Amino acid sequence: MSPTYRIASIPGDGIGPEVVSATIQVVEKLAQKLGKFQIDFTHIPWGTKYYKETGQYVSDDCLDTLRKFDAGLFGAVGAPDVPDHISLWGLLLAIRGPLQLYANVRPVRTFPGTKCPLNTATEGIDWMLVRENSEGEYSGQGGRSHIGQEWEAATEVAMFTRVAIKRIMRFAFETAQSRPKKHLIVVTKSNSMRNGMVLWDQVASEVSKDFPDVAWEKMLVDAMTVRMVAKPQSIDTIVGTNLHMDILSDLAAGLAGSIGVAPSSNLDPTRKNPSIFEPVHGSAFDITGKGIANPVATFWSAAEMLVWIGEKDAAAKLMQCVETVCAAGVLTPDLGGTANTQGVVEAVCAEIEKL
Ligand SMILES: NC(=O)c1ccc[n+]([C@@H]2O[C@H](COP(=O)([O-])OP(=O)(O)OC[C@H]3O[C@@H](n4cnc5c(N)ncnc54)[C@H](O)[C@@H]3O)[C@@H](O)[C@H]2O)c1
Repeated sequence: MSPTYRIASIPGDGIGPEVVSATIQVVEKLAQKLGKFQIDFTHIPWGTKYYKETGQYVSDDCLDTLRKFDAGLFGAVGAPDVPDHISLWGLLLAIRGPLQLYANVRPVRTFPGTKCPLNTATEGIDWMLVRENSEGEYSGQGGRSHIGQEWEAATEVAMFTRVAIKRIMRFAFETAQSRPKKHLIVVTKSNSMRNGMVLWDQVASEVSKDFPDVAWEKMLVDAMTVRMVAKPQSIDTIVGTNLHMDILSDLAAGLAGSIGVAPSSNLDPTRKNPSIFEPVHGSAFDITGKGIANPVATFWSAAEMLVWIGEKDAAAKLMQCVETVCAAGVLTPDLGGTANTQGVVEAVCAEIEKL
């Protein structure tokens, strides 16, 4: 009997519902055409509307709710009339940390038919970014004192633990090892951050001993931005902290063509908890409701989800259809095209029909 996968669909805010609905159409079409598995999406209404109705972004039992699923497909969170730290901590960071989704994997590639804006990368970009997703600068450690006073003070403590560094380094070295170039850049800032980032470098060096076939090097985050622009072909896999990779992955997406094609996986590599897949982009207030959001980042996130739950062949077929559609010039405005979201969905479904 063919397996049925239960997926939590959390569209969230802004263009989230647009790209998640586009992706569900495409994945359901794929499952129906291939006939090898069933996929069952359950809608979960967490997000700003839910917050305004209930006073919180997620339900009290959100972790147990998610644990009933094989994986989650998430859109975006953030609304113009709610402070961003409330929405992000209310939904996404309320899930990533407690579920220990500690590896945030962000592949970046220039799609066929799309243009890489770098003249240093005429062949386009193909990188794998690994972001530590559980601590660092986003640990939530810190506070505010003397609120409202002239001498008001606030701290944001970047916390690094040996356990968390070790597990993300192992994951990053394994990822680099699985790619043809077997090359890893460990992004750091240990010149000015002389405690946490020095432990980061030290553990990277210790873990590297178990991966003699992976060539690795250390790079300061500021110098890394220059290298991404000036020598993109010298890069393959990159690992960095929560903050560093949050920033570098948006830069990488822009350099590859558009943030509208950048996917991400929030993985619990121990598989004790369901992993959550989502586009890198946010709610995109400026294009919400216009029907022109690029759904490719969420398609690719869903393909990564299919790989994770064991449907590698289906994932490859989905990406092949998406690439054919891009190569044929069916592109949303962020990639210089004139197609709308539904136009891309229909073109991809038409390709799936030909499989
Ligand atoms: N993972 C998340 O849920 C997440 C990530 C980033 C930002 N946010 C939130 O989203 C809100 C807006 O943030 P922002 O403006 O900094 O970033 P953003 O990613 O929402 O938008 C940045 C720019 O990229 C464009 N863009 C993004 N996705 C696109 C797509 N699929 N197709 C075409 N164009 C696309 C937008 O139109 C905008 O011009 C904020 O509330 C922020 O906190 C959420």
